[in-house]
Amino acid sequence: MAFENNNNTKLTKVSHISQNLSLSTLWKSIAISGALLFLLHTFAFNHPHKRLTHKLFAPLDFSFSSSFSSSSSAVSSSSSLQIANEPSTNISHLMFVIVGSTKTWRYRRGYIEPWWRPNITKGHVFLERPPGRNLLPWPHQSPPFSVNKDSLKINNKFKTQIRLFQSLKESFKKASKETRWFVIADDDTLFFLDNLVEALDRYDHKKHYYIGMNSENVWSNAIFAFDMGYGGGGYALSYPTVVTLLNKMEECIGRYLGVYSDLLSFRCLSDLGIDLTLEKGMHQIDMHGDISGLLSAHPQSPLISLHHFDVINPIFPGKNRQDSVNHLMKTAKTDESRVLQQTICYQRGNNWSVSISWGYSVHIYQSIFPRNYLKRPLETFQPWKYVRTPLYTFNTRRVTNDPCEMPRQFFFDSVLVDKNQTLVTTMYSVKTARRLPPCFANGNHSPSHISQVRVIAATIHKMGEGIECCDVQNVNSTQILEVKIRACHKDEILA
Ligand SMILES: *[C@@H]1O[C@H](CO)[C@@H](O)[C@H](O)[C@H]1NC(C)=O
Ligand SMILES: *[C@@H]1O[C@H](CO)[C@@H](O)[C@H](O)[C@H]1NC(C)=O
Ligand SMILES: *[C@@H]1O[C@H](CO)[C@@H](O)[C@H](O)[C@H]1NC(C)=O
Ligand SMILES: *[C@@H]1O[C@H](CO)[C@@H](O)[C@H](O)[C@H]1NC(C)=O
Ligand SMILES: *[C@@H]1O[C@H](CO)[C@@H](O)[C@H](O)[C@H]1NC(C)=O
Repeated sequence: MAFENNNNTKLTKVSHISQNLSLSTLWKSIAISGALLFLLHTFAFNHPHKRLTHKLFAPLDFSFSSSFSSSSSAVSSSSSLQIANEPSTNISHLMFVIVGSTKTWRYRRGYIEPWWRPNITKGHVFLERPPGRNLLPWPHQSPPFSVNKDSLKINNKFKTQIRLFQSLKESFKKASKETRWFVIADDDTLFFLDNLVEALDRYDHKKHYYIGMNSENVWSNAIFAFDMGYGGGGYALSYPTVVTLLNKMEECIGRYLGVYSDLLSFRCLSDLGIDLTLEKGMHQIDMHGDISGLLSAHPQSPLISLHHFDVINPIFPGKNRQDSVNHLMKTAKTDESRVLQQTICYQRGNNWSVSISWGYSVHIYQSIFPRNYLKRPLETFQPWKYVRTPLYTFNTRRVTNDPCEMPRQFFFDSVLVDKNQTLVTTMYSVKTARRLPPCFANGNHSPSHISQVRVIAATIHKMGEGIECCDVQNVNSTQILEVKIRACHKDEILA
C-alpha cells in the first residue's frame, strides 16, 4: 500500500529536535512534568465559558494599558460590549497555513480534501519547491499551493526549521482584511471545520490568542513542552498574535537557531507573553496502532481535528486508511457537533452498559459501569515511544480478556436522516463475529446475538449544553439493539 512507504517526517523531526535539546533541559522538563501535568488537568478539564475565557486567558490586552487606572473596569466592560456587537466568526474569517511538501502531498491530499471546501475555505498548502509534473495539474479540490520564498535573512542550513514562519509570513501578506485567525496545520491534519469555527468564535479575535492542544503523550510533552500547541492537531493564532509574532520573528529565530516549527512558535510566543489556551477537541495523535479506544471515549468537547493517519491503523476495521477517513466524514456531514460525543445508558434487566461514540462506535458491556469509568479510553493503542509510565495525559482502561470488562464492539456503518429532517439514525455493525463469552458474575447475559445497533437522535444538537443521555429502547430478540438519545433528566445519574 502506498501509505506504508510514506516516510515518517514527524518521527525524524522528533528525534532531530531532541538532539538539539541539552540533557539538562530534558531533565528539568521531566522533573517539573508532574507539576505541569497537574496544571494541565486543571485547565483542560475545567473549560470555562466564553466570557470567562476572555477574562482568564487573554494573555495580553494592549488597549488596557493605555488607560490603566481607575477607569479599568469601564474599559473592560466596553470591550466586552464590542465583542457582543461583532458579527460572529465564520469560515471566511479563517486563513489556513498548511505546511506540506512535494514529497508527501500525493499521499496526504486525501486527508485534506475531505474537509477542504473549494472557494470557501481560505489558505494555502505551502511547498518547499514548485510541484513537479506528477503533481500537476493541481486539483481544484485541493487548497491552492504556494511555494516558500526565501524572504528571511537566515542561514540556508535552517531552511526546514523556519518554513512554518515563512509560510505564516506569506499567508499574512495574502490575507484579506477580514481575517481573524490563522490556523496552522500539517498536511495530514483532518479538520472538522464547523466545530473549529464554533470553537474560535468563543474567543475574542482582537486579543492575543494562541489556541491549540498538547500531545496525548507525556513523553512528547516532556521533550517539547506541555504548553506547546502541536501542529498536527493544528493551532490557531489570532490576528494580533500574528502581527506581534511576525514583528519579532527574525530576532526570535536568531535566539533559537535550529529549533523546529512548532517548538519555535511556542518559544517565540512564550517570550512575548502569549501562552497556549487548550482546546480538548484538537488531537495530535502521538500514538500507534488501534486508536479505537480513544475515539470511543472522546472528552466532552466538539471534535476539532485528528492527525497521523499514516502512522495509526485504519480507524475502521476492514477499511483502508483513506476509506476510513471518508467514512467518518459521512457522519460529520450530518452533524459535526455530535461526532465522537460519548453517550452512556444502561439496560438494567441484562446488567448492560451501552456507550455510544456518535458516528463512530458502540460498546456493549455486560456490567453496569459508571460514567466516570467509561470515560476512560480503552488502551487499544500503543504510545509514540515506550518510556516509564505514565504514558498518557489521561487515564486509560487496560485491555483484558475478562468478558465482564471488555465490550462487544460495533462500528459505524450508515447514517440516515428522516424525511422530516427531525431525526438522524446511525447504524453500527459488530466488528467480528467472534462470540464474547458470557459474564457469569452478572447473570450470564451475553450480547453475542446482537449484530447491529441503531442509534436515533434529534437532528438539532448544540454543544455546550452539557452531555446527552439515552435509553435502550428495545432489545430485539433478533439482532438489532435500538438506542434513543435524549436530553438528560435533571440530575440524572449515570452509574
Ligand atoms: C462571514 O461574516 C462576514 C461578516 O463579518 C460576512 O460579511 C460574510 O458574508 C460571512 N461569510 C460567510 C461564509 O458566512
Ligand atoms: C471556484 O471559483 C472559480 C472562479 O471563481 C471557478 O472557476 C471554479 O469552478 C470554482 N471552483 C469550485 C470547486 O467551485
Ligand atoms: C413528519 O412530521 C409530522 C408532524 O410532526 C408527522 O405528522 C408526520 O407523520 C411526519 N412524517 C414522517 C414521514 O415522519
Ligand atoms: C446483575 O448483576 C448482579 C451482580 O453484579 C447480580 O446479583 C444480579 O442478579 C444481576 N442481574 C440480573 C438481572 O441478572
Ligand atoms: C425486531 O426488529 C425488526 C427489524 O427492525 C422488526 O421487524 C421486528 O418486528 C422486531 N421484533 C421485535 C420483537 O421487536
